[in-house]
Amino acid sequence: MGITAIYPGSFDPITMGHVDIARRAGAIFEHVIIAVYDTPAKNLVFSTDERVMMARRAIADSPNVRVEPFSGLLVDFARQVQAKVVVRGLRAVSDFEVETQMALMNRSMAPEIEVVCLITSLPYSFLSASLIKEVIKLGGPSDGLVPDFVATALRQKFAGTGDAPVPRWLTS
Ligand code: PNS
Repeated sequence: MGITAIYPGSFDPITMGHVDIARRAGAIFEHVIIAVYDTPAKNLVFSTDERVMMARRAIADSPNVRVEPFSGLLVDFARQVQAKVVVRGLRAVSDFEVETQMALMNRSMAPEIEVVCLITSLPYSFLSASLIKEVIKLGGPSDGLVPDFVATALRQKFAGTGDAPVPRWLTS
């Protein structure tokens, strides 16, 4: 049996940088679970359901990648789904410090789980969900940086229509 890896994050919202990492992880591991953390210490724009649904739609063409929400400790969720590897994307040097801290903390709780960092592909090396949110909020472009339906969902949120029920096109 092959290795299951989880790729955890806030995914508020999923970007093409995330999609790139998930696809590349899918080429290495037999199964990849994009694990959407329900309560990150951040001002979220999207609910957990919305973040999960957008990630599912963004990765729909990768049969061995699935998306699940999780709460509580990452290592507990990893054990629950029998994942042996945690995948994280690394952009700049600044990411390294945070990722090292998290990896060491996770290892102290679950030494059997290995953290594998993939270096972000060049076109996404400057990209972050928070930057995209700011740019779209201020009316800027997002070409190629998030899936089109994510850009539409962000514009709807910032136009004040985001409290409406999740549109059908997002869930189908
Ligand atoms: O995309 P992000 O916001 O950088 O992802 C951070 C995330 C969700 C991976 C991290 O906050 C996490 O693992 N949260 C789950 C709770 C937990 O296990 N905390 C201890 C981490 S050392």
